[in-house]
Amino acid sequence: MNLLDGKKLSNEIKDEIAGEVARMKEKGEKVPHLAAVIVGEDGASLTYVGSKVRACERIGFESTLKKLPESTTEQELLAVVRELNADPAIDGYIVQLPLPDHIDEQKILMAVDPDKDVDGFHPANFGKMAMELESFISATPYGIIEMLRRNGIETSGKHAVVIGRSHIVGRPISILLSQKGPAGNATVTLAHSRTKNLAHLTRQADIVVSALGVPNFLKADMVKEGVVVIDVGITRVPDASRERGYYLCGDVDFKAVSKKASWITPVPGGVGPMTIAMLLKNTLLARQRHRG
Ligand code: GUN
Repeated sequence: MNLLDGKKLSNEIKDEIAGEVARMKEKGEKVPHLAAVIVGEDGASLTYVGSKVRACERIGFESTLKKLPESTTEQELLAVVRELNADPAIDGYIVQLPLPDHIDEQKILMAVDPDKDVDGFHPANFGKMAMELESFISATPYGIIEMLRRNGIETSGKHAVVIGRSHIVGRPISILLSQKGPAGNATVTLAHSRTKNLAHLTRQADIVVSALGVPNFLKADMVKEGVVVIDVGITRVPDASRERGYYLCGDVDFKAVSKKASWITPVPGGVGPMTIAMLLKNTLLARQRHRG
């Protein structure tokens, strides 16, 4: 079994970006500036956004964190989005999901300027991605593609089974794996909650991408020898014996599945750090596109 070490690879990518930022500084150019908006006090979201802002600082980006109270109205959040759209200092920004129930997520995401949408959640970017045009590719699927590509994992002609059809992960990664580009040319099955005989499909898969959010869902008897396993799940499982009161658990029964896999991502330290690295990459791209 080979470990797909997302932490190590994300550090390499961040070093590459930091090098580019240093060159920009030397030339007296403006460095990339990422903003993040978070509404409410969801613990996991606060942790993720904190990691994104810290990563910006480490590689020399400017960053702005807009922390809004849970009681923020849709109109107020729309006003913040419009402000960020109009602010020439901001190259890209994200609105951390999920949003509180009283806010229509789609309405907010539709209001983001597609040229600053470094999360790649706007339909204009999703559509361009699907048509292989220049866009922002969502950070998690982009990170998975980079992980496969940079580790030289063959995807062409392989059967990939993606579990989960979310707009953020399952759907876009299924499109990217089937495209002609890097880490593409796979034959893709997109499985979801209505799929019948899932194990029958995953047992045929050369590559399994699980983006379900059910701890330890994928068992060893559901995969074949030599499978490549990408675990996107990251669930906080309550555990009073731990200092934080929880532990992070992926969709994959790592201990058992890793015995059969040729390549496998750990949780944590797999897809998660790659997501942050690719968000930074998108922000660098946004800066370069705005300049050009
Ligand atoms: N919530 C979970 N993942 C993400 C992400 O990649 N971006 C944003 N904005 N919110 C998320």
